[in-house]
Amino acid sequence: MRHFLDIHTTDPAELRAIIDDARAMKTARTGRPKGAPDDAQPLAGRMVALIFEKPSTRTRVSFDVGVRQMGGATLVLTGSEMQLGHGETIADTARVLSRYVDMIMIRTFEEATLQELAEHATVPVINGLTNASHPCQIMADILTFEEHRGPISGKKVVWCGDGNNVCASFLHAAGQFGFDMTFSGPQVLDPGAEAVAFAREKGATVRIERDPARAVDGADLIVTDTWISMHDAQSARERRHNLLRPYQVNRELMEANGNRALFMHCLPAHRGEEATSEVMDGPNSVIFDEAENRLHAQKAIMRWCLGG
Ligand code: CP
Ligand code: NVA
Repeated sequence: MRHFLDIHTTDPAELRAIIDDARAMKTARTGRPKGAPDDAQPLAGRMVALIFEKPSTRTRVSFDVGVRQMGGATLVLTGSEMQLGHGETIADTARVLSRYVDMIMIRTFEEATLQELAEHATVPVINGLTNASHPCQIMADILTFEEHRGPISGKKVVWCGDGNNVCASFLHAAGQFGFDMTFSGPQVLDPGAEAVAFAREKGATVRIERDPARAVDGADLIVTDTWISMHDAQSARERRHNLLRPYQVNRELMEANGNRALFMHCLPAHRGEEATSEVMDGPNSVIFDEAENRLHAQKAIMRWCLGG
């Protein structure tokens, strides 16, 4: 059994195998109703706990549907309803859940919570987003990019806006999949130094370019995300908006790129803030393919965790 905790802590050959498996599984069920079982049932008889300490639409539904397509069953748990939210330790929660379920997906706040859960669980643990990273999202994004544009290796990705958890996972992926990454945002919201250092150590070129129009020159993919993440204080809203407004992805920015790049956003979006509806619904946008591919990528991740 294996945990899927982060992109930078997973072997690059394994990551590639997961993406290829996701693509094959997606192709195999083309045209089938969403509730129809896959031919292969690697989760037959398996129970998967999905723990949410933060809200979710895509992660919750895509994991739940994916488990069912592969023959398993799910338990969706919210942190506040569990003893975990009332003082029971993470380690005890991990030991107890491991007696009932075959796999655990958790969306939580601190990275340390995820690590502690994984340390004490005797079943695979999957990271469904922390304040620090969102690896399942970026696996879906790699799958999406490659469906549209072929191998991502050697391509140029530009992140506009807040250097947040999703940005960190993109930087990890730049190192593991071998693409270049440019960050364009205000200095106070730069991505974490560790994620940047990881990508560079692995040989990826990472640039910081404060001028977004210059940043997108030659880009193959332009990505953004909400200006206020679930772990950010609402009191920081006005300050963040003022800092991030110059980094909105809009028609002018896409034109500065010559309209050659794909546009991605993990969603949920605040239309008219980090990106305009014109871009989100425009010809370069693949945001709903990304959302769909959460399902296929996570199915491959779960199969990999169980040794498949
Ligand atoms: N992109 C993503 O993780 O969406 P949810 O918050 O809806 O799960
Ligand atoms: N950066 C966002 C991603 C949501 C899927 C957040 O953490 O809230």
